[in-house]
Amino acid sequence: MPATGDGRAEVLPTEPSLAPGRVDTGPNAPEAAPELEPAAAPETNLFEVDGLNVYYGDFHAVRDVSLPIRTREITALIGPSGCGKSTVLRCFNRMNDLIETARVVGRVAYHGVDLYGEGIDPVEVRRRIGMVFQKPNPFPKSIYDNIAFGPRIAGYDGSLDELVEESLERAALWDEVKDKLGESAYALSGGQQQRLCIARAIATSPDVLLMDEPCSALDPIATMRIEELMQELKADYSIIIVTHNMQQAARVSDRTAFFNVQLNETGQRTGRLVEFDETGQIFTNPSVQATEDYITGRFG
Ligand SMILES: Nc1ncnc2c1ncn2[C@@H]1O[C@H](COP(=O)(O)OP(=O)(O)OP(=O)(O)O)[C@@H](O)[C@H]1O
Ligand SMILES: [Mg+2]
Repeated sequence: MPATGDGRAEVLPTEPSLAPGRVDTGPNAPEAAPELEPAAAPETNLFEVDGLNVYYGDFHAVRDVSLPIRTREITALIGPSGCGKSTVLRCFNRMNDLIETARVVGRVAYHGVDLYGEGIDPVEVRRRIGMVFQKPNPFPKSIYDNIAFGPRIAGYDGSLDELVEESLERAALWDEVKDKLGESAYALSGGQQQRLCIARAIATSPDVLLMDEPCSALDPIATMRIEELMQELKADYSIIIVTHNMQQAARVSDRTAFFNVQLNETGQRTGRLVEFDETGQIFTNPSVQATEDYITGRFG
């Protein structure tokens, strides 16, 4: 994983500067920040990616990706190692900003607002669009404080006890930890730590969850629990998941994007979006041969 795989504090909010009602509209008000709220018009797509290219220095990692992501759906990103799945995933909440050499070109619109437009606060973007990493990365704190940390910093003024309980309930972890909230998060099993990280991500009320191979370090039972959890969370959240597990993509997702590596004109191994469709279609009747070869295990 690239360095941001452990981007802990960065994903936590500081001041929700774009929150409605907090903008100073007085005579000396600074120029209003662009709103990230949904427009009044009927919702079409949650994200619209258009002509996305990502570079690491001179290396053209991802080329010309365009796709829509729908609200309240699970979208899976699949493809062989190095095809740019994590790179694309990080574009949805500006995590690539934290990689010095990374440069993102093109448009990623969220509720119609260009996330890379002028005046957009990346911290607020990451509060609304939370992330769960491949390796569970709890803070070296108690179970309780792992959940309470982000909301506290954001100045949450409700009951933290209730928020902690509710978040752990929603991540299907409450029953297992309710009697040891003061214990270190490191004392939990890997699967529990991953659910704790999901609870932590939802405690700050995001709109979208990005998950980069969230089950790759887990056994089949813990994996099943996370998959069930995703199905439950789908009622309230939109989820984009990167997975190497074909069965998982087929089981949990509504739509699937297949990426592949292609040599560009200068011989670089660049990631391209090959096919994007309903998951059933991708797994039963893909329109591109490379997709079929990949999902049937002929390469990758
Ligand atoms: N921080 C970085 N600096 C330089 N190159 C990077 C960086 N992160 C990724 N890359 C390169 O960009 C390309 C895409 O990487 P990425 O991590 O997005 O692939 P991936 O599809 O997620 O792979 P995997 O399945 O192995 O996780 C690869 O060639 C990788 O070496
Ligand atoms: Mg990856």
